Amino acid sequence: MADDPHAIFEEWLAEARLSEPNDPTAMALATADADGRPSCRMVLMKGHDERGFVFYTNMDSRKGGDLAANPQVALLFHWKSLRRQVRVEGWVEPVSGAEADAYFATRARDSQLGAWASDQSRPLEARATFEARYEEMRRRFEGGDVPRPPRWSGWRVVPERIELWNDRAHRLHERRIFIRLAKGGWSEGLLYP
Ligand SMILES: Cc1cc2nc3c(=O)[nH]c(=O)nc-3n(C[C@H](O)[C@H](O)[C@H](O)COP(=O)(O)O)c2cc1C
Repeated sequence: MADDPHAIFEEWLAEARLSEPNDPTAMALATADADGRPSCRMVLMKGHDERGFVFYTNMDSRKGGDLAANPQVALLFHWKSLRRQVRVEGWVEPVSGAEADAYFATRARDSQLGAWASDQSRPLEARATFEARYEEMRRRFEGGDVPRPPRWSGWRVVPERIELWNDRAHRLHERRIFIRLAKGGWSEGLLYP
């Protein structure tokens, strides 16, 4: 039976939490628009289990537009301190409103207000405009909880392929590839480095 790539990922992440100088959950997220043009940016992974890898963002952002048109994505973790990378390929599914609410409630108030103030990926004529919007939101929600903005939510990347890449001496690196089986579970193999 193949090993479970999610379990190995959790072990690697635990090691990365100890050795990375910052943001061990940072991952590059690659999307493609309706014409197949790719773009890539960093996001923070805020949840992981056997269902997939969760991140949160503005649904009206550039990435949000890409994902609405094309749910196929790739993720990349690179932990320099460990000389390891994890490549994930699959598709996105929206998290439930309840799951997004629960995560939003754990965010610092300033970050909650920032989510309301930022029209993510839209042109901004001056920094001062953004700061004024932030102040406006601060006043609007003063004295109460900040609710989750309607267009701010999470996506779960459901993996079809997971590659665990480990540095080895003389560039004889180790590449373990896991491919999801239709009947459940994973097939496992090796790739030349
Ligand atoms: C380390 C790091 C973590 C980030 N995490 C997030 C995140 O979790 N969600 C998010 O929307 N943007 C995050 N960003 C900002 C994105 O990289 C990006 O600038 C933003 O989401 C707009 O991307 P888009 O225009 O392609 O939609 C992060 C940036 C960095 C450098």
